[in-house]
Formats: sequence, C-alpha cells, structure tokens
Amino acid sequence: MSEIKGKVLKHDSQTRIMHWIHLISFLLLGLTGIAFYWDIGIIYKIFGGPANASLVHRWTAVVFTAGPAIYILLNFERFSKFIDTISSFTKDDFNWLKTMGGYVPFLKGDIPPQDKYNAGQKMLGWLVILGCILFILTGFPMWIWRHEVPAVFLNICYTIHFWDAIIMILAVAGHFFLAAIHPKSRVEFSSMMIDGYVDAEFSAHHNEKWFNKLQQSQ
Ligand code: HEM
Repeated sequence: MSEIKGKVLKHDSQTRIMHWIHLISFLLLGLTGIAFYWDIGIIYKIFGGPANASLVHRWTAVVFTAGPAIYILLNFERFSKFIDTISSFTKDDFNWLKTMGGYVPFLKGDIPPQDKYNAGQKMLGWLVILGCILFILTGFPMWIWRHEVPAVFLNICYTIHFWDAIIMILAVAGHFFLAAIHPKSRVEFSSMMIDGYVDAEFSAHHNEKWFNKLQQSQ
C-alpha cells in the first residue's frame, strides 16, 4: 500500500490526466451543444459565433473520444480491472443502494462495506461508458456522414444525442455534487483532481473492502 502520512494512493497520474481531459472536453461539448439546441447567442459569443462554436464542438469531440481511447490502450490492465470492479454487484452493493450509502437523510440503516467504488459510483461508471459510446455513435455520423445517411437516421441520431446530453449533464452534476461539495464525500475530490491520494481513515470506512485488499497486498 502506498502511504503518505495516513493517505493512500487511489488514482495514478495517467488516470487523473485522462479525467481532467475528459472533464474539460465534456464541459466544452455540453456548453456548445446547449447553445446549438436552444440557439443561445451569449454562448455563441464566447466562441466567436455559431460557426466557430460548431468547430469547437466537433474538434473537442475528437479529444473527448481519443483521450480515453489512448488511456485504455496504455493502461489496458488497469482499465480491465476497473470494468471488473464496476461490473461486480454483490449483496453488499444492493444493500448499499437500499440506504443510498447514507447520503439521503430519510433512508436509514446499516451501510455495508464497499469496494474501491461504491454501488452508486459503479452505476455512474456504466452510465458514463454507455453515454460516451452513444455520443460517439451518434455524433460522428452527424458530422462526417450527414450527407450520406438517410434523413430518418440523422434525425434519430440528433434525438438520441440530445437526450444523451441531458442525462449525462444531470449525472455529471450529481457526481460533482457528491465528489466535490457533499461534506461526507468531498475528500474524494483531491484524489482524482489533484494528487491522487485519499485519507486512509476515510478509505477504511467508505471503501473498506478495497482498503483491506490494499493492506493484505502490502
Ligand atoms: C464523440 C463526441 C461527440 C460528437 C462527435 C458530437 C458531434 C455533434 C455534432 C456534429 C452536432 C451537430 C452540431 C454541429 O453541426 O456542430 C452535435 C450537436 C449536439 N451535441 Fe454533440 N458531439 C459529441 C459529444 C457531445 C457531448 C459530450 C455533449 C453534451 C455534454 C453533446 C451535446 C450536443 C447537443 C446538445 C447538440 C445539439 C443536438 C440537437 O440539436 O438536437 N455532444 N454534436
């Protein structure tokens, strides 16, 4: 276990860099995408007009796609482990969901031990992966093959792309609230966004299964 004054390493530098790249590109895509849908002049102005906003959206989409793709290629084992973790739903995960990990005031009960990611984070992980795949599958035909594909297909792409954006923006807002603002969990923020380390005591409590595995592998 890597420890610095009672801290454990949760996310290494490549994971953190990829997360930053994905976050910034998501914000740019969300902002420009909202401007297209509701034709918001003030957002267009930030980017120097609708044509430039469209260029920013398309080329940021390339970064949004290439960033995680390169990360996965360079860190295949780590990524496979991540997929394994978020795909394993045990009785403890289902019981965690019943109490929502203690984050919802009126849901009382024992909070079962969790892995590196709690049941809510596991579900968010899958939502983000599927949401990104949908952005890629709809966005590139809307850009590159817009004159080749049938109009019906293009319309379906636009509709899916828009609703994907709404769901993902809400999910990311919830994720931001829990990871950066909520007093019970905001200590996680610096582990992904700054130095990779998280308080050992916090991990032993919130991610007990993962923490125990780290100690055993020491
Ligand atoms: C691989 C990633 C993506 C690609 C290739 C892509 C591509 C596109 C394209 C080509 C358009 C049509 C507008 C234009 O011609 O410039 C568009 C519209 C839009 N995009 Fe994206 N996009 C991607 C990711 C995202 C993300 C992550 C969001 C939100 C967070 C988003 C939100 C939107 C919205 C709301 C629209 C307007 C949809 C509509 O008018 O129905 N896009 N996108």
